Amino acid sequence: MTDDQLKLARRYLAQAKRVVIFTGAGISAESGVPTFRGSDATWKGMPAAVASSLGLLEQDLTTAWEWFDYRRTLLKAVSPNAAHVAVAQAESCFAEFLVVTQNVDGLHQKAGSKHIIELHGNIWRGRGLRTGKRYDLPETPLPTLPPRGDADEPIRPDVVLFGEMLPAGAFEEAELAAMRCDACLVIGTSGVVYPAALIPLAARDAGAAVIEVNPEATDLTPHVTLSLRGRAGDIVPQLFEA
Ligand code: APR
Repeated sequence: MTDDQLKLARRYLAQAKRVVIFTGAGISAESGVPTFRGSDATWKGMPAAVASSLGLLEQDLTTAWEWFDYRRTLLKAVSPNAAHVAVAQAESCFAEFLVVTQNVDGLHQKAGSKHIIELHGNIWRGRGLRTGKRYDLPETPLPTLPPRGDADEPIRPDVVLFGEMLPAGAFEEAELAAMRCDACLVIGTSGVVYPAALIPLAARDAGAAVIEVNPEATDLTPHVTLSLRGRAGDIVPQLFEA
């Protein structure tokens, strides 16, 4: 990232009243959370995408939970980094400020962000298989797998699995905010997963300044106003410094 690019990005943000922050796994990379396409993670010989699939959940709920509880145990040990903290602290500086995240790790909440849409759910919650009722599941490792809710109802992870639709309303609410914003900051996403990746494009189409932060070029790079090369933990705090 050059000084000129930094100045320009700061000006876009300083002029903005309504801001959308769109994040992916890359914002949590410096907290020690592996990204999806940065690692060929396998678990018990299963690719992560299979372990996180609707197919496995329907076939074998207990094994699906073993995978998610393993991920929860990893996530329990990590903390928000400087990028999460800078985003949380910037929230009160704007008339409207919304975090739209693809991450299920809960690190934005842990950093203090208040207005968040979790497009892919949250690994610290469960959902009743029969009733759809949501349950907070902070404890890890979970005492029993699968965890059970009211009337002994089996609970599933409240995350969007491969092969599943996004939670009703979440995408629509995020898209509306993107179409209304003046600036959209895209942090740490490869932009290859849809419909999530439509959010920054909706902001661009509505005339907002779209600023990308990523050490590498992505599928979104040709479509953004400004693409800043570098790590989120280094760049994001500088963007909101002013
Ligand atoms: N700072 C900023 N960006 C980073 C950093 C960092 N320190 N480290 C890596 N990145 C970038 C990578 O260059 C990559 O472009 O983060 C991006 C991570 O991309 P993916 O692993 O594809 O993750 P994401 O875009 O969040 O994937 C979207 O796919 O697997 C599903 O549901 C899952 O939410 C996830 C979705």
